[in-house]
Amino acid sequence: MTGVQTCALPILSKTGINHFYAKTTQYIKKKEQMAIKNIIDEFHKIYYDPKQLGMVQPFQNTYWLGAPILQYPVDMFTIAEILWERQPDYLVECGTNKGGASFFFASIFELIGRGKVITVDLTSKEMPDHRVFKERVTCIVGDSTDIKVVEKIKMMVNNSGVMVLLDSDHSKGHVLKEMVLYSDIVTIGNYMIVEDGTVNGHPLLPQYGPGPYEAIQEFLSTRSDFEQDEEKEKKHLITSCPSGFLRKVKKL
Ligand SMILES: C[S@@+](CC[C@H](N)C(=O)[O-])C[C@H]1O[C@@H](n2cnc3c(N)ncnc32)[C@H](O)[C@@H]1O
Repeated sequence: MTGVQTCALPILSKTGINHFYAKTTQYIKKKEQMAIKNIIDEFHKIYYDPKQLGMVQPFQNTYWLGAPILQYPVDMFTIAEILWERQPDYLVECGTNKGGASFFFASIFELIGRGKVITVDLTSKEMPDHRVFKERVTCIVGDSTDIKVVEKIKMMVNNSGVMVLLDSDHSKGHVLKEMVLYSDIVTIGNYMIVEDGTVNGHPLLPQYGPGPYEAIQEFLSTRSDFEQDEEKEKKHLITSCPSGFLRKVKKL
């Protein structure tokens, strides 16, 4: 060993140091963002199915004035904000179930003082026995992708301000069909909201197979009339509608 030590690090110029610093900072930020996303996704999985806490799935145990509503409360709040902002004449819902979500939207319309819900489902169940539901909700029994059903809805909305919410069969093929069939009744500035894009590993139920998320990607790859509203999607960290708040920006 001589008295002269060699250094393993290359001697960097000032520009080199700045570049190295910027790259390292970028790398750390990316790692931090991924760690945060993992925490949110893990929380989302527990929220969706908290059986290890001895709890039932919250969306199976959520009610609006007594009517079961198969939704995350955060999404209902976001949609209520959109209804207030856009004040559409109609909200068309595919997938009524027991009418809980329709009843919620009708209640918001009642407070706003305008707006009606048209909701379609394959089967007819007992609906909320409430004046607001009776006055503001029309239930149609049929397949949401049946052309006769779509034509009937088009006649009813008749060029008014329309928003659409897709929450029926969550297979990719069905959702894509609905997106194509209902996209032209959505008026500019209003939304087409696609529910349950969380399945197939986004981040829930990885074995589900292609669902709403994949339908949205395919739809958007060929359409320029809708844009994703990321602010609406991300404001509560978790949502049942990832990539699913689609705002109509123009007519094709
Ligand atoms: C997730 S639930 C809807 C929940 C409801 N939107 C709520 O939040 O309370 C899905 C519903 O879609 C209906 N459905 C399934 N396939 C359908 C189709 N092809 N056309 C219309 N409705 C369908 C089912 O009968 C079921 O009631």
